[in-house]
Amino acid sequence: MSEANMKNIHPITDSIISRSEREIRLGQHGKVLWFTGLSGSGKSTLAIALERQLFDQGYNVVVLDGDNIRTGINNNLTFTPEDRVENIRRIAEVAKLFLANGIICIVSFISPTREMRQSAEQIIGHEDFIEVFIDTPLEICEARDVKGLYKKARAGEIPDFTGIHAPYEAPLKPEIHILTGSMSVEASLIQLYQQAIKRVQW
Ligand code: ADX
Repeated sequence: MSEANMKNIHPITDSIISRSEREIRLGQHGKVLWFTGLSGSGKSTLAIALERQLFDQGYNVVVLDGDNIRTGINNNLTFTPEDRVENIRRIAEVAKLFLANGIICIVSFISPTREMRQSAEQIIGHEDFIEVFIDTPLEICEARDVKGLYKKARAGEIPDFTGIHAPYEAPLKPEIHILTGSMSVEASLIQLYQQAIKRVQW
C-alpha cells in the first residue's frame, strides 16, 4: 500500500477485546509455533499430530499448512523467491491475527531462508515466535518422497524445488529442534509436545 493510502487508514485498538482477556477465558497463552524444514521432512504430520494432542488436552489451536494455504488465500503465488517471501509474509500476518485472539497457531511451511523466518518473527514478535526445526536430512526426505515431488524435481519437471534447485537454510538456533531422522513420529511428537506445552500452558 502506498504511503498516501496508509495515511487514511486508522486501525482500531481500544475497542477490541484484549488478548490477555481472551487468554484468561481460554486458559492458555497464545503462541506461534513456526515449523520449518524441507518438503517431506514430516512438518505436516507432526503439526497435525501436535494439534490433535493439544486440542484433546483442552487447548484452542489451529494449523496453517503450506499445501492448504497455497490452495486458498495464497493460490496466486508460485515458488519464486519473491513469491515465497510474500507467502511467508501473509502467513505471518494471519498467524498474528490468531495470536491476537489468544489462539495457539502451528505454522507449517518450508520457509527456506533465515531472512524469511526473521521477517516472520518481526511481524509476530520475538516473545511469541517459537522456531521449530523439523530436521530431516535431504537424503531421507528424497528417499521417502511421499508426494513424488523429488523424483519430478530431479527430472527437471518442477522448477525451484527446495533442496534440489533452490536453497534451504537450516536454522542456526531453533528454539525447538526435532531430529526426525533418528526418531519415530511418536517419539518426535512426545518431544514436541513436552516443549510446546511449557510455552502455552497457563
Ligand atoms: S515455502 O517455501 O513458500 O515456504 P510452502 O511450505 O508454502 O513453501 O509449500 C511447500 C509445498 O509445496 C511442498 O511441501 C510441496 O508439496 C509443494 N511444492 C510445489 N512446488 C514446490 C517447490 N518448487 N519447492 C518446494 N515445494 C514445492
